[in-house]
Amino acid sequence: MNNVAEMVRPVERKVTRLSDLTESQQAAIRMIPAEKDAVNVPLSATRPNAIFTGQARYDAEQAGIFRKYPVPVALSALLPEPGSVVAVEAYGKPLLVSRTREDEIRVFINACQHKGSKLVEDCAVHRQGRIVCPYHAWTYGIDGKLIGVARPDMFEGVDKQARGLKELPSRVWGGVIYAQLDGREPDWSLLSQQIADDFEALGIPGAHVYGRRTFDLKANWKVVLEPFLEGYHVQRLHAASIGALFPDAPNVVDMFGPNIRQVSGRIGYYPAMLDENPDANIHKLVTHAYTAFPNLVLVSSQYYTSMMILMPTAPDRTTVHYAMLTPGPAQTEKAEEVFQRSYDLILSVFGGEDFRAAEITQAGLSCGVPEETIYCGLEANIIHYYEALEALL
Ligand code: FES
Ligand SMILES: [Fe+2]
Repeated sequence: MNNVAEMVRPVERKVTRLSDLTESQQAAIRMIPAEKDAVNVPLSATRPNAIFTGQARYDAEQAGIFRKYPVPVALSALLPEPGSVVAVEAYGKPLLVSRTREDEIRVFINACQHKGSKLVEDCAVHRQGRIVCPYHAWTYGIDGKLIGVARPDMFEGVDKQARGLKELPSRVWGGVIYAQLDGREPDWSLLSQQIADDFEALGIPGAHVYGRRTFDLKANWKVVLEPFLEGYHVQRLHAASIGALFPDAPNVVDMFGPNIRQVSGRIGYYPAMLDENPDANIHKLVTHAYTAFPNLVLVSSQYYTSMMILMPTAPDRTTVHYAMLTPGPAQTEKAEEVFQRSYDLILSVFGGEDFRAAEITQAGLSCGVPEETIYCGLEANIIHYYEALEALL
């Protein structure tokens, strides 16, 4: 990542200073020691192979987490304009997410009330007031109302009011759209207000989606998640890319229920830096990494933020929706070039390194090796997270 993105500020906008963050974030950042003062504590912890490979564990997670609680389906930043809609394949369900003209985010099943056809087949953001079914051209508003039926004279009565799109309960939380997949009344209690406040301070709700990509990975979702909860791999797996930018020391960790916030100093960090230039871009000094319950990952970089939703689709399959967020669109050609290079780089780091590690790890796990995974002190955070998950199963 030590490329041109390190040197040029691509968007002419106020940078995020330490003082722009929540008090809680600031307190966490002030706990980061200089690298030489970091305290490393060894750990002896294991987890059995079956949590990454077994159908029983997968089913328990589906029942106890992904279908029981509201889960993230998309970012509100994807729909900045009222009157826009996007289709999302979420956890094996086709969804439509819209921002109505009244500026409300709504989540629907992407299925026509006539015979069930998908209404929107691509994953582009559409700015349009209505959605026309490709099959027999029933027309819906993006608020879900059935507006028009082709050849209504051929039906002996269709109650349009009763055939609006099937809606799921949803809520926007720190710029993340959560929905209750089984349609039941949601229990919002595991979403953390602190996480929402932190995400707001990081500018997530009002960010610009520079680029996004979907990865279909042959790995359990926790195998995909693990590298975002630990720093042990960074100097090793990422030796040829970003490894040299990050010290080999534990992060400062706070948990808010089953939500994790990690902050860490970049290489060469020492605490007095925070006060030497209070107007400095805090992202130059510190990396933020979050796991918002249960499967949303945020990782900050100097001029952009990576957001990933890790959606399990089978014990050994995960769909990752990745988005690179910037404070706004690039305003100059040079800025565009920086963003493009950053985007290419981050996709090659996450896609070519972290996600590749997940797939080659799953290959071993799926043939039963190792029988148990062993975690070290630089991976303690994974165990904290698993303990929070296991308490729900
Ligand atoms: S399935 Fe949509 S109009 Fe027939
Ligand atoms: Fe990584």
